[in-house]
Amino acid sequence: MENLALGAMLFGTVHDERRSFELLDRFVDAGGVWIDTANCYSFWADPSGFGGQSETVLGRWLARRPGVRDRIRISTKVGCEPTEAGRFPETAEGLSAKVVKSGIEGSLRRLGTDHAELYWAHKPDPLTPLEETVAALDELVAAGTVGRLGCSNYPTWQIEQARRTAQVQGRTGFTAIQQQYSYLRPRPATRPSVVHRFGAVTGEVLHYLEHHPDMVLWAYTPLLGGSYTRPDKPLQAEYDHPGTTRRLQVLDDIAAETDSGRNRVVLAWMTGGSPAATPIVGVSTVQQLDEAVAGVTLQLTAGQRERLDGAV
Ligand SMILES: NC(=O)c1ccc[n+]([C@@H]2O[C@H](COP(=O)([O-])OP(=O)(O)OC[C@H]3O[C@@H](n4cnc5c(N)ncnc54)[C@H](OP(=O)(O)O)[C@@H]3O)[C@@H](O)[C@H]2O)c1
Repeated sequence: MENLALGAMLFGTVHDERRSFELLDRFVDAGGVWIDTANCYSFWADPSGFGGQSETVLGRWLARRPGVRDRIRISTKVGCEPTEAGRFPETAEGLSAKVVKSGIEGSLRRLGTDHAELYWAHKPDPLTPLEETVAALDELVAAGTVGRLGCSNYPTWQIEQARRTAQVQGRTGFTAIQQQYSYLRPRPATRPSVVHRFGAVTGEVLHYLEHHPDMVLWAYTPLLGGSYTRPDKPLQAEYDHPGTTRRLQVLDDIAAETDSGRNRVVLAWMTGGSPAATPIVGVSTVQQLDEAVAGVTLQLTAGQRERLDGAV
């Protein structure tokens, strides 16, 4: 099951080790492969004001489960760890060559492994020349320390610029994008309530992906934090528009036809779409995890997909 990533953002902070291990075990038992983390997870949820707890708990889990490292793939990131507690984003570490080098060393140390299959620039660094970041990341690929490279929260023009820079210099460039994406669409011209200004998938991002088939899309916050189904998690203000009403109606119709539920239909729509997205789900319970697994294995008919796409 390569089309679902388990988001480990809150492991080691909000979720204690016991709960984290329970979710990780269940994920692997269900055939899950990809686990998404970052060196900075989760600085905002830890009294220290610094991250690393998620990778540390993953490292402990890997150490306690001999052989499991060969069955899973690690996706981790660099660039968002604050250098001063309580001062994010203004003191985010950025993406200088030095930070990239020490970033991966720290991540691998905490994870207790010698490589990560996917390594992300967590957000653009306006202060470091792009060439420097591209070269530093390429060196990690050349050394076999990381497999694939991706960028998260980048505006499309910077993704293209980074890829072009890598191409011209004969280096390995980004072939993965990680942004916020779900079935419901925020009202145009609103600023989505994600931390990152260019963190949301837009029509332009989708168009870019259509024209660059070597790129893959990973989608964070795919279930909008539970807002599809939970009265205690109302939708954010940017979803307050008539398109949401129409999309929720179709979602409900198809959830009834498939005897599933909104969350499962959303995940099926994402994984089976064009371009296909890999949802990164953040789950708190085994039941939520099971629902996510059921979602990415649910097959929609062409007609159902057409109706979902057509609701605007
Ligand atoms: N690249 C980036 O900048 C970035 C940013 C954000 C996240 N991420 C990645 O994406 C992952 C997921 O992000 P997220 O936690 O924001 O997204 P999410 O999966 O949309 O939301 C997770 C929350 O939704 C609720 N939920 C999950 N499954 C549910 C279900 N079946 N029914 C009802 N509620 C459900 C749970 O809330 P409760 O805990 O209240 O039950 C859970 O904590 C993170 O772990 C991280 O790896 C990346």
